[in-house]
Amino acid sequence: MIRILSILVGLFFTVALAWSLLTGLLNFELPHTVEHEFHEHPKELHLASDGAFGKFDRQQLQRGFQVYKEVCAACHSLRHVAFRDLAALGYNEAEVKAIAVGYQVDGIDPNTGEATTRVGMPTDYFPLAFPNDVAARAANNNAIPPDLSLMTKARHNGAAYVYSLLSGYQDPPAALPEDNRPGEGLYYNPYFANLNLAMAPPLNEGIVSFGDGTKSTVEQMSKDVAAFLVWTAEPKLEKRKQTGLPVLGFLLFATILGFLSYKSIWADKKKKKG
Ligand code: HEC
Repeated sequence: MIRILSILVGLFFTVALAWSLLTGLLNFELPHTVEHEFHEHPKELHLASDGAFGKFDRQQLQRGFQVYKEVCAACHSLRHVAFRDLAALGYNEAEVKAIAVGYQVDGIDPNTGEATTRVGMPTDYFPLAFPNDVAARAANNNAIPPDLSLMTKARHNGAAYVYSLLSGYQDPPAALPEDNRPGEGLYYNPYFANLNLAMAPPLNEGIVSFGDGTKSTVEQMSKDVAAFLVWTAEPKLEKRKQTGLPVLGFLLFATILGFLSYKSIWADKKKKKG
């Protein structure tokens, strides 16, 4: 009796669940918004650091750092990166020191203990672009320029997104409804989720001049700074890829070994049975 009852109760819940799933599915509709219609997925971007054997292209990272330093740093901080980390881009000790000295960081007056500033040292982190959020908003049409250290991890398809965003500013299409046109201090960019952002196009051809002779087109600078931001978000990427494969190899080896020992342990037991 109890058994029949519990089967009935179970059946009831199963039917109820199936019913709610079915009606949910039937009522499900993709929201069709203007943003949805005009938004574009990031352009394709291939970097040397892609793939299972990817390695950073240090020349490109140095160019990307130059773009960050000369353009983006005016508004965006990079607070998870210390100057000494730049050694990984191929700079020697003297070069790292020279870069650090070019920045003013927070310090303490040794005599009075009051807050002051001092020149940077290799162990310091990149200073903030604005002292606080209020100042950041005031200077940027009420938007805060986000920290870029982890940006390529924070956005879907991060590197390609940064590259597309920087090189993707354009005039709003004629078909764009009035409500979605960029207002005062906003700029149309179909790669940005809501189509208009408060960052003016930061790059113009020739705005930096690369030491290695690479032509500084907007495309090139966008790619280079995206590559650099892949490094800031995951400086240990090469190490991870280098250890990953041997670990997989070891696991495969251990699996085969396990299977073979299972076979040999049970081999004569099976024989006896037959
Ligand atoms: C004059 C200031 C300024 C400069 C220079 C600048 N940005 Fe921005 N950036 C902003 C502001 C403000 C926002 C926030 C925009 C918004 O939310 O509408 C932003 C947003 C971004 C975003 C985030 C977009 C998102 O999905 O939220 C990225 C990525 C970015 N900037 C990258 C860069 C890079 C790389 C450079 C250098 C080539 C750069 N920016 C130069 C002000 C600036």
